[in-house]
Amino acid sequence: MLKLPSAEYTQRRQQLLAQLPVGAVVLIQAAASQIRNGDVEQDYRQNSNFQYLCGFLESDAVLVLSNHATGPVSSVFCRSKDKLQEIWHGRRLGVEAAPGALNIDQAFAIDSLAEKLLELLDGASQMLYCFSREDTQQLVQHSLQQLRALSRQGKQCPTYLADLDPLLDAMRLLKSAAEVAQMQAACDISVTAHKRAMSVCKVGMNEYHLAAEVHHQFAVQGSARVAYGSIVAGGDNACILHYTNNDQPLQDSDLVLIDAGCELDHYAADITRTFPVNGRFTAPQKAIYELVLAAHQAALGVIKPGAPFSAMQDAAVAVMTQGLLDLGLLEGTLENNIDEQSYRQYYMHNIGHWLGMDVHDVGIYKIDGESRPLEVGMVTTVEPGLYIDPEDETIDPQWRGIGVRIEDNILVTSDGYLNLTQALPVSVADIEALMASA
Ligand code: GLY
Ligand code: MN
Ligand code: MN
Repeated sequence: MLKLPSAEYTQRRQQLLAQLPVGAVVLIQAAASQIRNGDVEQDYRQNSNFQYLCGFLESDAVLVLSNHATGPVSSVFCRSKDKLQEIWHGRRLGVEAAPGALNIDQAFAIDSLAEKLLELLDGASQMLYCFSREDTQQLVQHSLQQLRALSRQGKQCPTYLADLDPLLDAMRLLKSAAEVAQMQAACDISVTAHKRAMSVCKVGMNEYHLAAEVHHQFAVQGSARVAYGSIVAGGDNACILHYTNNDQPLQDSDLVLIDAGCELDHYAADITRTFPVNGRFTAPQKAIYELVLAAHQAALGVIKPGAPFSAMQDAAVAVMTQGLLDLGLLEGTLENNIDEQSYRQYYMHNIGHWLGMDVHDVGIYKIDGESRPLEVGMVTTVEPGLYIDPEDETIDPQWRGIGVRIEDNILVTSDGYLNLTQALPVSVADIEALMASA
């Protein structure tokens, strides 16, 4: 049931409530199940915030945390045991087992939510819930309306409503040792999968064949699903940043870009490697690849606690802009090209993003308008890339259609950083050697 030690979830709930005044009530809902078509549901994935606070994997559940003067009380609402429903749709934890299994003070049937919420909210000084969730907005508004209607019976409605997202975002941004271990495991699985793709890649294979090799490795190593839609982009397709069709044959003398990471117990890996379909980089491919790699290393080189997030982008941009000038893909001075952002013709995204339970994880990037300083326990991707328009006739044909991205997953540590995906070959020589040995 719980994927991390029970004490970790308890500690998170305590840490959250310690930031709130006495009388505050927190409400958070499990993800709703979604219909795909007819009576068939989409694959269910728990809401990350709900998972973060209680580790309960079922739908139709609500967690309520009450900061009473006498101490915190946690309540969970969940589906009751039901033999017939469980035969059709799967096992349920049930109300009786929930407190013990989840280390929660009390549990109630989800069917009693409307009625019980009135009791739990009565007299609360403030209420916090995720403003980003439309279903929760509706639930809260409905409950408050019901409670207000009972004011003549002495019921008291919280008058102050606050967004829970920023508090949880800030907590989730800083990973505990247990979370780092989980992310390292997700990265290790994903590294093996990328190595497998490099090993089996052959001219004429389809992009979806390579995708299947990657996903097969995820599964046999214990990951039940991908952290995001995998990108397997041969040749020009690598210049489409969110390419996910993955349905074209891989051509001789082309590169293939694979951006894929597994999810392991709700923690994501997010890795990109670009390698030659036939195992050998051409000279122009190598030139672009090594430029992206130099930018990647420059970005890694500035990572340490206190450095602003934007320092990684600045370092990568300086290296890539100079390289693009050297290759004749830009003209003019380094300073002007950086000031005018002309590199954006070839590098149109940012250096990376927070990584955690979600692939584009929660957490703000600026504080008071300034780039946020890195802190120990943050995990970010570093993913510079260059993408040269295959149809731009103003560009020397040798470069057209080359798309390269290199993406690693980086933990900020007290003395700099730890590359969680460093086991995956990244240099031209190491990639060619791996492919040749296969
Ligand atoms: N795979 C999505 C990203 O790299 O941001
Ligand atoms: Mn990625
Ligand atoms: Mn990424």
